[in-house]
Amino acid sequence: MSDQIAVTDDGGIRTVRMTRPEKKNALTQAMYAAMTQTLHEAAGSDAIRCIIFAGAPGAFCAGSDIADFQKRAEGGLKPVTLDFLRALVRNPKPLLAAVDGIAVGIGTTMLLHCDYVVAAASARFSTPFTKLGLIPEAASSLLGPLRLGHARAFALLVMGRPLSAEEAKAARIVNAVVDAAALEDTALQAAREIAALPAGAVAMARKLMRGDLDDIVKRVDIEATCFKERLQSDEARAAFAAFLARKK
Ligand code: COA
Repeated sequence: MSDQIAVTDDGGIRTVRMTRPEKKNALTQAMYAAMTQTLHEAAGSDAIRCIIFAGAPGAFCAGSDIADFQKRAEGGLKPVTLDFLRALVRNPKPLLAAVDGIAVGIGTTMLLHCDYVVAAASARFSTPFTKLGLIPEAASSLLGPLRLGHARAFALLVMGRPLSAEEAKAARIVNAVVDAAALEDTALQAAREIAALPAGAVAMARKLMRGDLDDIVKRVDIEATCFKERLQSDEARAAFAAFLARKK
């Protein structure tokens, strides 16, 4: 388990918190592995009724760690992201998220797999995949157009235009926008509401609503093949080097 993922269980609600605030919660391979493990554990536990993803004040998640991208491009790292994405799609428990501050890359695309998302008014959602020479992942190339409509999905996922919290709500990524101070309580309240419902009915209703998971996993896998190809590209390598060498 990574010490940068904190998992707590309370009243049937599992909170999975990313705790790497000094790097704006950019996800390392160890963090992905820990999140995969906690999803698998939760899937096998009757006691856990739903899961909340949370981050740090001002930083929900800055996406995958770009230094890890660079190592992967050089072939020096075994990718574990795919295991996380498959676990995210297949996970049978309702997923919630409490988003404060930045939600970049997978910090935004993972929300397309969530059932209830609360955002602080200052939250900002962006997916700069193509700017990094990459392509959208986490089945966002499938779920994005379905959820947002093609035009808005293209602006977000391909043009990399960010969304404010209110825009993300209008784009149907977010359920509720609240003050940052009320964020976690609001998410917890929704989680308690879900946890108090009959679990079997919730599970079956959610399954029916999510459609064919094999199709979604298939898209995750196709994107992963394309993503791997893009990681090796000159465009991506140049973008990673530029980010890692930038002066502030
Ligand atoms: N990978 C690796 N390191 C990252 C990171 C990422 N995805 N996101 C942030 N960091 C690091 C920064 O390099 C910086 O490290 P340092 O203090 O050692 O220099 C630290 O986190 C703080 O980030 P900083 O850029 O100073 O914060 P900010 O508030 O000015 O900007 C972001 C925050 C998220 C807008 C900016 O860091 C950014 O654009 N990150 C890249 C996001 C991204 O492209 N992710 C991949 C998506 S596919």
